[in-house]
Amino acid sequence: KDNWVKLADGNQMPQEGFGLYKVDGQETMTNAIKDAYSTGYRLFDTAQLYGNEAAAGTAFKDLRIPRDQFFLTTKVAEDNQGYDQTIQSVKESLKRLQTDYVDLLLIHWPIEQHFFETWRAFEDLKRAGMAKSIGVSNYQMIHLQYLATKAHEMPVVDQVELHPLLTQKPLLQFNHDHQIITQAWSPLGRGAVLSEPVLKQIGAAHGKSPAQVILRWHLQNGVSFIPKSVHADRIQQNADIYDFELSADEMRQVDALNNYQRTGREPELTYEYDRQY
Ligand code: A2P
Repeated sequence: KDNWVKLADGNQMPQEGFGLYKVDGQETMTNAIKDAYSTGYRLFDTAQLYGNEAAAGTAFKDLRIPRDQFFLTTKVAEDNQGYDQTIQSVKESLKRLQTDYVDLLLIHWPIEQHFFETWRAFEDLKRAGMAKSIGVSNYQMIHLQYLATKAHEMPVVDQVELHPLLTQKPLLQFNHDHQIITQAWSPLGRGAVLSEPVLKQIGAAHGKSPAQVILRWHLQNGVSFIPKSVHADRIQQNADIYDFELSADEMRQVDALNNYQRTGREPELTYEYDRQY
């Protein structure tokens, strides 16, 4: 448990995980989880929206990986938000995943409709043991501040798009100040940033690839991250980042790549809260 981080609710989570987005088809899924697990990954991240919860559930069963040996995240889709629908959809997710609980349950995207009701369902799902920890995804500061006006407990994780082209420093600081672990999706910027010369140069100095430099940068920022690959050599490579260190100057050079470039969509930002405060 070397690289597990402590969550505000007392649970622990591996800092590095394995993203299952776009890991499609049973054979691809089973092979990816097999390679990742034997490489040492213990966190697996799926979502209702990915359409692959059932394939993941089958893979864990077929590979005979005991449930207490891995940390499982799923996310409630926008279409399933609202109190009753959230509860119902999570029960269905658990059935597809062939388990009684997820370790981490996230609201996939913030939407103003059902904003508090969905979170209230999350608090109840946690109480009922169906989710060990609860968090959010794609929440900016404004959403977290709005949630704080009514929530009984706050999210312990905020999973957002985060990579060297979108460094989100103010959000990282805010989350840090509020005991929320920031988790990066598309930590490699969906591959777009990998050809940056500065990353090649820093990598060359350490005998590492640009992807390894980026993941090391996340690690040193205290961020959790979930790279995805369906190639065994890359799965291996992405876990081989614990034997070198970036200097403060190298960290700054990676930070300097920020150009606010999203690969995914922009979270919805106009809320009642905006108009009120
Ligand atoms: P593949 O699955 O074919 O290996 P992100 O996690 O930022 O969304 O980026 C994932 C993308 O980067 C995927 O297209 C993945 O492709 C690719 N990728 C993952 N790891 C590496 C790596 N170490 N080197 C190069 N490309 C990688």
